[in-house]
Amino acid sequence: MKKITDSIYYAGVDDLTIDLFEGQYKVPEGMSYNSYVIVDEKIAVFDTVDVRFSHEWLDNLAEILGDRKPDYLVVQHMEPDHSANILSFSKVYPGAKIVGNAKTFTMMKQFFGTDFEDSRVVVKDGDTLSLGSRSLTFVFAPMVHWPEVMVTYDAADKALFSADGFGKFGAAGGECAKPEDDWACEARRYYFGIVGKYGAQVQALLKKAAGLDIEKILPLHGPILSENLPYYLNLYNLWSSYMPETEGILVAYTSVYGNTKKAAELLADKLREKGCPKVVLTDLARTDMAENVEDAFRYPKMVLATTTYNADIFPYMREFIAHLTERNYQKRTVAFIENGSWAPMAAKTMKAMFEKSKDLIYVDPVVTLKSAMSDGNKEQIEKLASELCREYVAQSPDKADKNDMTALFRIGYGLYVVTSNDGKRDNGLIVNTVSQVTNTPNRVAVCINKQNYSHHIIKQTGIMNVNCLSVDAPFSVFENFGFRSGRSADKFEGQEVLRSDNGLVFLPKFINAFMSLKVESYVDLDTHGMFICTVTEARVVSDRETMTYTYYQNNVKPKPQTEGKKGWVCKVCGYVYEGEELPEDFVCPLCKHGAADFEPIA
Ligand code: FEO
Repeated sequence: MKKITDSIYYAGVDDLTIDLFEGQYKVPEGMSYNSYVIVDEKIAVFDTVDVRFSHEWLDNLAEILGDRKPDYLVVQHMEPDHSANILSFSKVYPGAKIVGNAKTFTMMKQFFGTDFEDSRVVVKDGDTLSLGSRSLTFVFAPMVHWPEVMVTYDAADKALFSADGFGKFGAAGGECAKPEDDWACEARRYYFGIVGKYGAQVQALLKKAAGLDIEKILPLHGPILSENLPYYLNLYNLWSSYMPETEGILVAYTSVYGNTKKAAELLADKLREKGCPKVVLTDLARTDMAENVEDAFRYPKMVLATTTYNADIFPYMREFIAHLTERNYQKRTVAFIENGSWAPMAAKTMKAMFEKSKDLIYVDPVVTLKSAMSDGNKEQIEKLASELCREYVAQSPDKADKNDMTALFRIGYGLYVVTSNDGKRDNGLIVNTVSQVTNTPNRVAVCINKQNYSHHIIKQTGIMNVNCLSVDAPFSVFENFGFRSGRSADKFEGQEVLRSDNGLVFLPKFINAFMSLKVESYVDLDTHGMFICTVTEARVVSDRETMTYTYYQNNVKPKPQTEGKKGWVCKVCGYVYEGEELPEDFVCPLCKHGAADFEPIA
């Protein structure tokens, strides 16, 4: 007889003969069907076991009960691995009440032809049942893993009877998990295989459980969890929110004649070389599908390599992707290797299968083998490995490029039109270097290139307006204010202008706010001057999003006309400088940015 607490006993059984759990999951370590008994003034039994273990289970109950009889059978889950012996229980213990919810009894009628009309207790979410010195609280957990599932909380022993939740493959015999056990290995495979689709429902259950004082979790499969509960709860939170658990990359392939396999192996080698902390290479035709599904969810990145087959993809890959998408595969980075001797289309087919998956990032290049790996493919694989390992390389103390000044482009700049007036006419200039530097009082710093006429004006007048461009601003705004000088051009020519209290113009369109600034101090930064200003007026015009430099680059700036040209292209405005070498002191004639903002035409 296995005692868990002074009142809770284990009545479950181990199944060491089963080959496939639920008809598909390999369970080399067997399976346990857990059942529990709470002995109080009244006695409650929790769930039955698989049909092949009726006698062992009834024997266990008899041993625990002695001369007493159970008052209740609580049915938390109607899947047959737990419900198969409800009828045999009711025959042996006809005086016991069957406790379930409305859905439980609907399923009972379907399975057994009876819904125990005369001996049932139908509970609602949050209902309690007194056993004397303790009360049980029933908490519905629909779709964890069937719609009728409920879990039960026993406040006296601070025990959560968690149904399929926190279950695990492997015989466990009513033991408690120990810290040295690798609980997560088979619990993860179980979770993603069986409950993985229902992340949102598990999250809902975890939220309900967070309000309970829990010292023990008693699942219907696997060991009892009684130590270090935050570890298990944290894993369940990660898994059910579809967050990756371990840094690394899964490379999953199928191969008909070994050529796709060679490409996958080469990629795996390159990933290891470049410092990927864990690379899992798996042949989908020869390994356990549930293990592969588990790994796809465990790691943040996955590369799929397969052949074009019958104008589709190889069956094991199709099956694998179907397993992932039906379990809501999401929030991951994915790359493809395809092979096809005459019409390769596997990458396109694979990507289409993920069409409904949320938050996937696809990494280029797609590697396309034509029959066997070419030198070009090897270069592509090298490039793909570099892309996939970019963050690992950057995190490495010895592999990282520690002098990559393109990092500065990642600072989140907004784009602004700074307006001023030289006493004769209004002027405006595009800048990206505006930031609030203090808040009591509000001070804003604006950096302007000394070559710009606006710098000269503001230095003299000490005032400016900063117009915050919104994402609807067209390229013409940048052409007007950014690509010509106010010394020679009237940027507001022919326009009816609006003015703020300081007399300067603010833009009538394409901004979400503007502020009037008064220069308080000035810092000479050689090429640029920094104006530190107080805010004298500030108005919000719309709720449209602020135009960022990145948004401008991706959505507003026309693609530079570099085709057939050799030389350098301005990253700010797309101006093309044709020539072998870009002079160090070169300044873009359009936007006035220096040589540092140019890149070679690829
Ligand atoms: Fe262990 Fe969903 O049955």
